[in-house]
Amino acid sequence: MCGIVGYIGDGHAVPILIDSLRMLEYRGYDSAGVTVFNGSLETYKIAGRIKELENIIPENTKGSIGIGHTRWATHGKPETKNAHPHISSGISVVHNGIIENYLELKERLTDLGYEFQSDTDTEVIAHLLHFNMNGNSNNSLLDGLAETVKELKGSYAIAALYDKEPGIMAFARKDSPLVVGLGNGSNYTASDVTALLKHTKKVIFINDDEIGLVKPETVEIYDLEGHTISRDPETIEWTLEAAEKAGYEHFMLKEIHEQPTSIQDTFAGKLSELEGTVTLKELYLKPEEIKRLRRATIIACGTSWNAGILGKYLFEKLAGIHTDVETASEFRYSNPVLCGEELTIAITQSGETADTLAAVRSSSSYGCRSIAITNVVGSTITRESDSVLYTRAGPEIGVAATKTFTAQLIALYMLAINLGRARGVISANEAKDLIVGIKRLPGQIQKILNRKEAIKECAIQFAESRDYFFIGRYLNFPVALEGALKLKEISYIHAEGYAAGELKHGPLALITEETPVVAIATKGHTYEKILSNIKEVKARDATVIAVADDDDTEIEKYVDVVLRVPSSHELLSPVLSSVVLQLLSYYTALAKGCSIDKPRNLAKSVTVE
Ligand code: AGP
Repeated sequence: MCGIVGYIGDGHAVPILIDSLRMLEYRGYDSAGVTVFNGSLETYKIAGRIKELENIIPENTKGSIGIGHTRWATHGKPETKNAHPHISSGISVVHNGIIENYLELKERLTDLGYEFQSDTDTEVIAHLLHFNMNGNSNNSLLDGLAETVKELKGSYAIAALYDKEPGIMAFARKDSPLVVGLGNGSNYTASDVTALLKHTKKVIFINDDEIGLVKPETVEIYDLEGHTISRDPETIEWTLEAAEKAGYEHFMLKEIHEQPTSIQDTFAGKLSELEGTVTLKELYLKPEEIKRLRRATIIACGTSWNAGILGKYLFEKLAGIHTDVETASEFRYSNPVLCGEELTIAITQSGETADTLAAVRSSSSYGCRSIAITNVVGSTITRESDSVLYTRAGPEIGVAATKTFTAQLIALYMLAINLGRARGVISANEAKDLIVGIKRLPGQIQKILNRKEAIKECAIQFAESRDYFFIGRYLNFPVALEGALKLKEISYIHAEGYAAGELKHGPLALITEETPVVAIATKGHTYEKILSNIKEVKARDATVIAVADDDDTEIEKYVDVVLRVPSSHELLSPVLSSVVLQLLSYYTALAKGCSIDKPRNLAKSVTVE
């Protein structure tokens, strides 16, 4: 998705902007550009990588004020003319989001004599801003921007420069993330804190319908009526090292290896083995409200949605709460039947997924209490929800979610145990067993990582397959879904995740000797059932790769390859099996020479509908 950076201070703007844009590369982009104030505004942009952008900027380009952008095409092809910044005589604008009424504005501005150079929606912002400053009255950049955003429909994070007011950078935000970074004699803007980690940890998160100015020493924030807003800065805990590769070939591999720590960080300080309790101070639900809960609705997309399916099973089993899992992009256009005594749980690692945010807003309008599970402090979802349960996985740069997924699962276990104890559905002893099991997970994941060679060999053996199937039952169904999603995202192999019992209702027709079938066959009350499903596909000549417990001595009789996980509590094994499948996808993509951290067509944070 698009990324914004901005710098104003006493340093050399170009290297700072380029460096910050590099930190945003992981979000996915197809073109990039910068504007620097060097006596006048100089703009350089290109359809291509940041390295190529760097090559077209003359070495002696001076200037200590600038804005930059990485674009992920929505309106108009990935061509240089569509890259940001967009210019309207003396004004330069970068924008994330989508302007829904851009055609109508474009028509009006064309009638007024403005000539459009691009096919983007963003260019209307530049021209409208110019009109609101010069064409109309003699507004300042800030006043012009305030008038402009009032006319925009849709979502935006905007940073703008004006050559007649060279000491300031203006910004505005609605439904697209924007943060201001505070330095010493230098300040920054960015769409994502990762871009700022090299420069500062002190940030101010900008809210919807706020605009403002960044100057080298000060930051001014206003509402759209011009009232001053004062907000204390927050300190980001993430480190720069955490956002770099640390010797791993890919971010994804590094992030897979970080899971013993990221899981530990997510549950640290919350679990009491002695008392069989999970303390979630961040949960603003009173005991009587918890007891009265009749239903929960989990809202999420992609990997987070897969985590949600496991969440459903956990809430139903451990807390006795009927739970539905909704795809956020569909939920917002459906007619949900919700009421006040229900709980909405939004799962989103980025906290910025447009579909999830819109779905949560829609559920809040029914009076539902809401909990967000997210990895990003200060992200938009945290302001849209009554309670926020943070996963503490650290920055995830690889587009394919790995450590944030397992951290989400941990958050869901903790929430289910907490609610289940409060509602009297599970006993202290049952909770204790689970807590002991959760605490063992980091060591068990480390064991899987230590023997990853077997997974690599298996991945190489089947890397040329055209199709893959992943099957599992009950708790292992979401594991199968996530295994298939991971494989298709980064290796471009067609993969289906299926509830194993459903195969015979259609997909069995696709099983041939050329189709590897990954069966998640860890021990539990559906173990015998998955063995029957394995026999079904074996009878159709498929090659079966089983994910099975270390102490399962029977499985080898039925399958071709066994990938092992340490034996665990039945409810917790999805965490371990998921790590195996992450490695299987990673090594498959590696064998195929795919772009692992930045898969084609995908973006880390999907901030458009
Ligand atoms: C995960 O590997 C994917 N890149 C994608 O499905 C992702 O999970 C989805 O876009 C939701 O993102 P979120 O968790 O940030 O809301």
